[in-house]
Amino acid sequence: MSLTSNQIQFSKEELDGETNRLFASLSNLGWTKEICQTYAPLTLEINSLKKQKNAIILAHNYQLPEIIFGVSDFVGDSYQLSKQAAQTSAQTIIFSGVRFMAETAKMLSPKKNVLMPSPDAGCSLAESINAQDVINLRKQHPDAAVVTYINTYAEVKAESDVICTSNNALKIIESLPNEKIIFLPDKYMAQNLAKLTKKQIIGWEGLCVVHEEFSPQKLEAYRRFYPEAKILVHTECSPAVVAIADLAGGTGEMQKYVSNSSANEFMIVTECGLSDKLKVEFPKKKFIPSCGLCPHMKRNDLRNILKALKNPSPDQFVEVPLDVASRAQKALDKMLEFA
Ligand code: 13P
Ligand code: SF4
Repeated sequence: MSLTSNQIQFSKEELDGETNRLFASLSNLGWTKEICQTYAPLTLEINSLKKQKNAIILAHNYQLPEIIFGVSDFVGDSYQLSKQAAQTSAQTIIFSGVRFMAETAKMLSPKKNVLMPSPDAGCSLAESINAQDVINLRKQHPDAAVVTYINTYAEVKAESDVICTSNNALKIIESLPNEKIIFLPDKYMAQNLAKLTKKQIIGWEGLCVVHEEFSPQKLEAYRRFYPEAKILVHTECSPAVVAIADLAGGTGEMQKYVSNSSANEFMIVTECGLSDKLKVEFPKKKFIPSCGLCPHMKRNDLRNILKALKNPSPDQFVEVPLDVASRAQKALDKMLEFA
């Protein structure tokens, strides 16, 4: 199937220039000029539509390289993307990520159009819990504060005291007066946090389908082959995996670690999009294959981004009921106070 959209005609100079621009980054992933050439008409069309429609594309660190290096305006972790969504002056946000992220963008920028390229992009953590579960937990633990990971839907955020990301979860927990914290919904992240605080952490049974698959045995085996490699793992991994890591953090912290480290070899134990991004940005460093694919994140591609910009279907528009949004926004605003 051809990747060209055949709607806007570009000159040979424009197409060659775009091919070269894509090749400059994507050749680090083994992409050839010919492959870049097939993508060029599509990335050109998306980039020119963005200008016409006063739109920006926010992309999570796990997105495909042609999205990150071809069409995105800002790439980051959940916290950085929330900040961008709250601050942008563009009228339309195309959110290349998953539903809970796009919902968060809509709640932080309620007057903007927020569109999801793939409306079905969910998340196993977000789907593990609903609003009634939070209400029941509060009844069981009336003296606890509810700290909820951003990987949840708006109705769950609306029942929470404060939202967090992997980046600021510990800081937020320590800042609260309560000695008892209900931390939702990631079981492993709750266990990892419990090791870092004296507070009592009450968790939930949610797990990330990507990070629950990483085993300490596999990482130990890799370590024997690559003794010099730094092992960076996401805090959604099990405590046994976190125990053997050089760093446990969110995708933004992993990126910062690679950027500041004098080491040359890394194992990036998270979704593969991040290691692809790092391979492009740090071409002299070596990344040992150690990632997994998120079936939700990988639903977005250049075609559904183009559709969201050009001729969106009703289900690509992200809406959050106003009463839910206003309660969730209070918990989100508290999160934004913690860098
Ligand atoms: P961060 O980019 O905030 O670390 O989030 C990772 C993740 O799994 C998002 O779905
Ligand atoms: Fe959800 Fe895990 Fe996919 Fe992130 S990687 S969107 S936590 S399923």
